Amino acid sequence: MRVLSGIQPSGALHIGNYFGAIRQYVHLQEGNDAYYFVADYHALTSVRSAENLRKYVFDVVVDLLALGLDPERATLFVQSDVPETTELAWLLTSVTPMGWLEKCVSYKDKVQQGIPAEHGLFAYPVLQAADILLYDADLVPVGQDQKQHLEITRDIAERFNHVYGETFKLPKPYILDQVAVVPGLDGRKMSKSYDNTIEIFDDPKTITKKVKKIVTDSTPVEAPKNPDTCNLFMLYRLFASPAELADVEGRYRAGGIGYGEMKSRLAEAIIAAFGPAREKRAELVAHPERVEAVREDAAQRARKAARIVLEKARNACGLGR
Ligand code: ADP
Ligand code: TRP
Repeated sequence: MRVLSGIQPSGALHIGNYFGAIRQYVHLQEGNDAYYFVADYHALTSVRSAENLRKYVFDVVVDLLALGLDPERATLFVQSDVPETTELAWLLTSVTPMGWLEKCVSYKDKVQQGIPAEHGLFAYPVLQAADILLYDADLVPVGQDQKQHLEITRDIAERFNHVYGETFKLPKPYILDQVAVVPGLDGRKMSKSYDNTIEIFDDPKTITKKVKKIVTDSTPVEAPKNPDTCNLFMLYRLFASPAELADVEGRYRAGGIGYGEMKSRLAEAIIAAFGPAREKRAELVAHPERVEAVREDAAQRARKAARIVLEKARNACGLGR
């Protein structure tokens, strides 16, 4: 099965990204033909510094490798290393009704807030459709927030197939419902845009400092507490073993565990969980040529796959000889 997903390089990856996306990428590379890419064309809609963009792209590639993507199993490439993507995006724009894009959330939100939107943001879902269709993807693992983009991708593919004849495979989204939204320091969804994140590769001191800031209620230590409504517990659950979890849950319900103790436990658990990845990351950063080699090799493999589909699409609509 061909699995494909993309992640935007718009800053350091956080724990929400790990549980909501990256962990699934790592699982799915087993037994599948997996393609993952760093969506730098998409990031142009928000990152305006060339220097930052290059740095973020490098960082995401390194983070993904450190967290367990294996370049022998998965093709981990950078979107703009395959310029075929933008050509396919153009072919797709000509069968995409304006109305479909006007309904899309990120564009609509910006316009509703009275902020002028660029054409790139408006056309973002078409570029995303090109990413997916270009590789004949069967399965696209994404978070809930990407559901609409996947629907539009399928609609565009169907429309193109209807107009020009069977060309694209219809991809299926792979949305894990049981992956709960990871809460941030303030209890809202952990997200860069809320400034409430714990970065996967923050140094241990910063992790401890951030965990101390997690908002809780003021129930005293000895009082019983409801673990299901506690941010600390929700985060701890992601890291603890079943035995640790059962122990802590019992103490929540009976009373006798304080938020201070929970914060220490949580910080330790986060630091320990990403310890091996942190070492691997440091090694990669010390050898950027290894990262470059992975990128180069993946780009070649991705381009080879992309050319086949692009050629088919060009032929279907009458381009070329
Ligand atoms: P951010 O909200 O920080 O900008 P992105 O939108 O770039 O994060 O998310 C990248 C991936 O990580 C997506 O697949 C998204 O669904 C997932 N993700 C982001 N934040 C969370 C979260 N708090 N809980 C679960 N998954 C998340
Ligand atoms: N829009 C996605 C996000 O913000 C990133 C992305 C771009 C993507 N192209 C994709 C995801 C193709 C899956 C498939 O998270």
